[in-house]
Amino acid sequence: MKKTAFYSVMLVLLGILMPFNLIYADGSNKIFEGAPCINPPYIIGNYPETTFLFYIPTSGERPMAWKADDLPKGLSLNSETGIISGKVTDAGEYTVTLTATNRLGKDKQQIIIRIGEELALTPPMGWNSWNTFGRHLTESLIMEIADAMVKNGMRDLGYAYINIDDFWQLKERGADGHIQINKEKFPNGIKYVADYLHERGLKLGIYSDAAEYTCGGVCGSIGYEDVDAKDFADWGVDLLKYDYCGAPFGQQEAIERYTKMGKALRATNRSIIYSVCEWGQREPWKWAKQVGGHYWRTTGDIGDHWSNKVIGPGLGVMEITDMNAPLSEYAGPGGWNDPDMLIVGISGTSMSIGGNNKSGCSDEQYRSHMSLWCMMASPLLCGNDIRNMSRETLETLTNRNIIAINQDVLGKQATRSIRADYFDIWVKPLSNNEMAIACLNRSDKLLDVLIDSKTIPGLTANADIKDVWAGRNLGKLSDGLNVKLEPYQCKVYIFSGK
Ligand code: GLA
Repeated sequence: MKKTAFYSVMLVLLGILMPFNLIYADGSNKIFEGAPCINPPYIIGNYPETTFLFYIPTSGERPMAWKADDLPKGLSLNSETGIISGKVTDAGEYTVTLTATNRLGKDKQQIIIRIGEELALTPPMGWNSWNTFGRHLTESLIMEIADAMVKNGMRDLGYAYINIDDFWQLKERGADGHIQINKEKFPNGIKYVADYLHERGLKLGIYSDAAEYTCGGVCGSIGYEDVDAKDFADWGVDLLKYDYCGAPFGQQEAIERYTKMGKALRATNRSIIYSVCEWGQREPWKWAKQVGGHYWRTTGDIGDHWSNKVIGPGLGVMEITDMNAPLSEYAGPGGWNDPDMLIVGISGTSMSIGGNNKSGCSDEQYRSHMSLWCMMASPLLCGNDIRNMSRETLETLTNRNIIAINQDVLGKQATRSIRADYFDIWVKPLSNNEMAIACLNRSDKLLDVLIDSKTIPGLTANADIKDVWAGRNLGKLSDGLNVKLEPYQCKVYIFSGK
């Protein structure tokens, strides 16, 4: 063999064997090891003249130092904490170059800060109190969740919002016309919690309802939209989930009620993400964005189980997937379908949502659930107790490669190109001419599925393949990829090149 031919073969082999962006090579928590890696989101929206806050999610060994070139006027970076903050007056699209440096190297990443009328240019990521804790939420729980998110590295993979769900309020509105905070749960008020989160570059979400009472029967916002939105803004709230219990059934009334709160939020001095939660009963994918919404529930509440054909109550991951699948054309930057929050790692511990109270789903099923939500460009709001979770759960929630698919700047929701009896094939176009393809085994049997250029339009034999969960390059597609799936497994690949 000629020397050059030998080297080419070796290079190809090396490319195939090299892990790509792999955080967990040996099963250990490597988020805080190695050279820096700046993780998504790479595009951030904010309204003009409102507070901007962004922690640069970065994995790698600490200490770390950050640099930001070409920040728009009004913003500054704290190079030790990695938090960019300030206020920008002029609308526009600003390309900023970020650099993260540690003892072992540096990473450079261009991001876009778009000051204008859109928020949530990629699906929001964070945590919500409901799925595990239900009514049992307190100030110290929220603050401990924030500490956990910093300590376990989730913040460095892009998780940013910590959302207080139902039951932070008392039942009756105060004589002064304001919602009364339940002081037994939040003795120092909501602003105190918001400040604590903001100091760490995290953001606070809150919850209310478009009727007199919420789903849990405490104070809702109808008739007081302006007062409540202003209170939320004064407290430093960054996101509102607006529920629909106790409100009229018709679509028109829902549009009116959601419009009122949408306008009230936009009239505050903060960039507040607006989550429309009427459970997909009035086709919100057709109107929620116009009323100021940034994501909207497409289904009823999730339960901690794979399929409610087997066990209920609450919808299973499979039923929700089937309901959300046909809605891809409605999702995009600034407005996302929301197939409800993640149940990864709840493992039967929920105090609120139904499910299999013994153990919830298997780790494989939770991983597949995460893959599907990432493919469907869904908001990634986990709800497990992240203060105390298994290594498998942490690995599922913090796999950089699968999150990068969710956060891709093109903002496409995957479409299902094949729905067979026991398996699905999903396709999500990505930026840079890449494409993510997921193969899901719905059954409890081993399954072989073939991916080739005949079954998937747009794929060519020359495409390079990466296995997302294994973190490996697999070489060229050639005459097809034979995918071996364990029961309930979802394998995800990235195909690049023509
Ligand atoms: C509804 C919502 C849930 C949760 C509860 C709180 O059921 O869909 O996500 O917010 O209310 O009571």
